[in-house]
This record gives sequence, C-alpha cells and structure tokens, in this order.
Amino acid sequence: MDFVSCTMIFVLACVTMHALCLLFTKSTKPNYKLPPGPSRLPIIGSLLDMGEKPHLSLSKLTKIHGPIMSLQLGQKTSVVVSSAEMAKEILLTHDHLLSNRPIPQSVSVLNHEHYSFAFIPISPLWREMRKICNTQLLSHKNLDDSQHVRRKKMQQLLNDVHHSSQIGEAVDIGTLGFKATINLLSNTIFSIDLIDSTDAAGEFKDLVTNITNLVGTPNLADFFPVLKMIDPQGINRRQAKNVTKVLDIFDRLINQRLKLREDGFHSKNDMLDSLLTISKDNKLIDKTLIAHLFHDIFVAGTDTTVSTLEWAMSELVRNPQVMEKAKEELVEIVGNNGSVPVEESDISKLPYLQAVIKETLRLHPPVPFLLPRKAEIDVDIGGYTIPKDAQVMVNVWNIGRDPSLWDNPTLFSPERFIGSDIDVKGTNFELVPFGAGRRICPGLQLANRMLYLMLGSLINSFDWKLQHGMRLEDIDMTEKFGITLQKAQPLKVFPIKISN
Ligand code: HEM
Repeated sequence: MDFVSCTMIFVLACVTMHALCLLFTKSTKPNYKLPPGPSRLPIIGSLLDMGEKPHLSLSKLTKIHGPIMSLQLGQKTSVVVSSAEMAKEILLTHDHLLSNRPIPQSVSVLNHEHYSFAFIPISPLWREMRKICNTQLLSHKNLDDSQHVRRKKMQQLLNDVHHSSQIGEAVDIGTLGFKATINLLSNTIFSIDLIDSTDAAGEFKDLVTNITNLVGTPNLADFFPVLKMIDPQGINRRQAKNVTKVLDIFDRLINQRLKLREDGFHSKNDMLDSLLTISKDNKLIDKTLIAHLFHDIFVAGTDTTVSTLEWAMSELVRNPQVMEKAKEELVEIVGNNGSVPVEESDISKLPYLQAVIKETLRLHPPVPFLLPRKAEIDVDIGGYTIPKDAQVMVNVWNIGRDPSLWDNPTLFSPERFIGSDIDVKGTNFELVPFGAGRRICPGLQLANRMLYLMLGSLINSFDWKLQHGMRLEDIDMTEKFGITLQKAQPLKVFPIKISN
C-alpha cells in the first residue's frame, strides 16, 4: 500500500479516536513559544504540506513563516531552519544539544541503530568511531596512501568511456558514476571491486540503491510510532532483507581477510586492514561494528557523490563557456594526456574545477535537509523554543538559493567562488552541503577527491555532446526528492575522445 492510501485509512481510524479523546480531556498549552508554521489538521498535522518535493514546499512556506518554522508531522514535531544565520545557531551555537538524530524505522533493522555511525547518539562509541575516521581511515595521510588504487579505478572508467566513444554509444553519467564510486570506495576499503566492470547492474549496486531508496521513502510509522509494529508499507521488512545481504557480503570479506592475516599476509594497506589492527587492542571495535560501519560508508557515500557528479556534468554540458574554462584550466595544469586520469595531488592547483564543484553543491545539495537532528532538551533559538525530542532539519537547498546571500542565485556561475574564501568545510553557513559541527560528514575529503577525479578526468579526456537535434535547453533539470536529491531524468551524453 502506498504512503497516501495508508495515510487516509489511518486518518479515518484516528479521527474517531481523536474526537472521543477531545470530549474527555482538557487541552493543555505548553508554556513555551513554538516557531511559527502552517496550520495543522487534526491527527496528521502538516503532513500534506510536505508534498512530493518537500525542499520546494518548505522553501515556499519559509517565505510566509520565516527562517525558523515548526510543523507537526503526524506525532512528530519538526523544526525547519532555512537561513544561514539559523543554520549557524543549530550546527554551531547549539550543536551540543542538537547532535543526536531521530532514528527512522528503515534504519532500525538487525540492530543497525545500535551500531550505525550515522545514527547512534553521541557516546563513547561514536567518539571512538569519529576519532578513528578522522585520524586514520579518512585522514589526509591515509587517503594519500591509498590514492594509487583510486587512480587505477579511474583509468578503468576512462577505458570504458573510450570504448563507448569508439562505438558511438551515449554514456549514462549516473550509472557510470555509480559503478565508479562503488568501486572507488570498495578499493579504498577492501582493495577489491564490488561491481564487475562489465556488469552494469550488479547485485551490490541494487542493494545499495534499495537501501537508500527505502531510507528516503516517507514512512507512516515514523510519523505515528504506534504503527511501527504493523509496518504498514512493509519498509522495515524489505529493508531487513537488503541489510542482511549487505552485511553478509561484508562478513564474508572480513572473514577472508582475517584468514589471510592468520596465514601471515599483512600487505593490504586499506581501511579493512587498519580496522582489524585497531580492533586487536580496542574492545569497542569488533567484526560486527566494522561490518555496520562499512554499510554506513557505502550508503552515505554513494548516492551523494554520484548525484553531485551527475548534476555537475549536467551544468557543464548546459553551460559550454563554463565547460571550456574548466577544460582550459585542466590542460594548463594537468596537460592533455589522452585517456589518463587527473591526479589527486593536482586538486589544489585547480581552483576553477573546485569552484565548479562548490557551485554544484550550492545549487544541488545532495542531502537537502542534512541528516535530521533531534533536540536533547528544550532549546531556545531566535526567540522560539525547539521542544525536547523535536526533529530539526536544516534546509540547505533554500540557503543555497537565498537571494540575500547569493547574487543571481539560480544562475550556475562558478566565478562567484573565485577569489572568495567560502568553503564547504562547515564554517561558512551559507554553504554547508556536508553539514557542520560535531556531526559534519566525515567522508568530506574522500568525497571531494572522488568528485575531482571523476569530473576532472571525464572532461579532460573527452568532449561531451548531446544527442543529435537536442538543444542545451532541452536538458531536463527536474529534481527527484529522496534521502538524496537526484536528477529525475538521467543525463545521457556522447563522449568524443580528445586527440592530443
Ligand atoms: C558529495 C558527497 C557527500 C555529501 C554531500 C555528504 C553529506 C553529508 C551530510 C549532510 C551529512 C550529515 C551532516 C550533519 O548532520 O551535519 C553526512 C553524514 C555522514 N556522511 Fe556524508 N556526504 C557525502 C559523502 C560521503 C562519503 C564519501 C562518506 C564515506 C566515506 C560519507 C559518510 C558519512 C557518514 C558516516 C555520516 C554520518 C556521520 C555522523 O553522523 O557522525 N559521506 N554526509
């Protein structure tokens, strides 16, 4: 049953209950001032205001109610902030009170909520995982040490594109990017490919897509916790199957590696080896936790990176002067070596390419509301109270298009970042696609490296043409809302090899 039908049946049952309750109870008003927001219907509150594209609906409501708004989503009180100033209040000033997250039912499968780096509350375990990620797994040094494996994967991606160019075949940038990102991650973690290079739709790809889609599906049981047991949309049941399969794959890989280590092989310089070494002395880190951590890295790191790549390529193809400038910079700094990937060490010398990626993240933030936070206690912000347990969302999509912050906000213009020190590292609250504060994305550096590698290499080695007869303005830039903001229509473009 879909979300709307479920909601309607549930509402009918509840209206009767609610009317009876009202007859017998006195209403009590809280003694704090909730942020303003749209009017609420009985039972469902403002659920219908969310629409199919909540980032658009909530941005419209912000124009009426202001940069801090409250909505009643079923039984869940939600606060949405939509300005850089309010984002700073949430992510910096009051970060310590707003660092935990509400846990969706789609995450509460197979005890994942107790191990998930992205969802467990701030605790000694979370601090330990954060420390390990920041200082070891995802540190600059570790990423530098593993760059040769990503380079090899990039070379394979360019070979695939070269093949498409030879046979005159269009490349679906999303599919290509998905396969490449999974393998860039899996080689950084396990030193193996999780998707066969000839297999466009491998099982692992489907599993990651299914998990992400279910996390992004509005779930009645999240708005009415009483329904959790019933699981009316079957989300919990379906998610359990996907997560079981993914954890099985990781278990197998971990066990194989343990066996190799027992047999005296220690040569793999990857994340799995680092974690197994850490787990010898650190009782908090065991095999189960490692498998769940890998689950989170793939789920958090794949769709986000791929959708950024696809939006960036779409903007570049739509804006030929920007594409030309980015290519000129690459030729000047990297040279045009045919189908040879750019190097991670070149990134800092490519300010225009950096600006292209920032501009893409400004207009198309992959996680438009960040990952929601939860108020630990009542928190006062801007003259209003965010009540204890409310979920807090930061509308970075709206902030990226705020005309008081950005000139000509809907224009794709990387030039706005040239000579500006605005960065995505969580200190400039007008641009926080990776979040900020304690829970800022730990994969930021790796995501940046993968994006530069893929985007830089694709445009340095090939020209990209639209299908014959298609005009630039025909590129469909419609968004599809989910846990990540995807392009509704895939970008399919023809690669033309640049001869040197
Ligand atoms: C363009 C790519 C990416 C974007 C835009 C992105 C964005 C985000 C955002 C917005 C959050 C929530 C931050 C907050 O609550 O303030 C987050 C958390 C997280 N991201 Fe990313 N991410 C990306 C890539 C990655 C990659 C490649 C990895 C893994 C290597 C990763 C792993 C994680 C994890 C584990 C968390 C949860 C951290 C925690 O709750 O403590 N992300 N990401």
